[in-house]
Amino acid sequence: MKILVINGPNMNLLGLREPDIYGRQTYADLVETLQKKANELGVEISFMQSNHEGDLVDAIQGAYPETDGIIINPAAYTHTSVAILDAVKAVGIPTVEVHMSDVKSRDDFRQVSYIRQACIATFMGKGFGSYVEALELLVNKLR
Ligand code: DQA
Repeated sequence: MKILVINGPNMNLLGLREPDIYGRQTYADLVETLQKKANELGVEISFMQSNHEGDLVDAIQGAYPETDGIIINPAAYTHTSVAILDAVKAVGIPTVEVHMSDVKSRDDFRQVSYIRQACIATFMGKGFGSYVEALELLVNKLR
């Protein structure tokens, strides 16, 4: 089983960016955590991060047909991107939306998620735990 984890803009700055919200662990720590979990679960996992909307669309398109599940944190593009929503709908790969922070309790402009309607689940507010829970759910659903 192949899982792709996609992270959007500024997620490469984890550890530096707003540590009171996102914590002190880095993007490399996130990759390590998920790689370990994937090993435990016996699934193949790969990672992609970009600050550019079109690159995220390309990554989703490129995941078809060989990827079984996608975990995506579109970061700020969550709240703006119809293109990313359309890409997930186009490929039809089971996708889970994740956020490190609890976006529900943040700014008004973060209350909209375009991608949510194309996702089988959403995890938020649990830091790296949001991704770990997304991985467990995807693997359970796909097995
Ligand atoms: C985020 C929440 C978004 O609102 C924000 O723009 C991000 C990160 C999160 O993981 O909590 O960049 O997706």
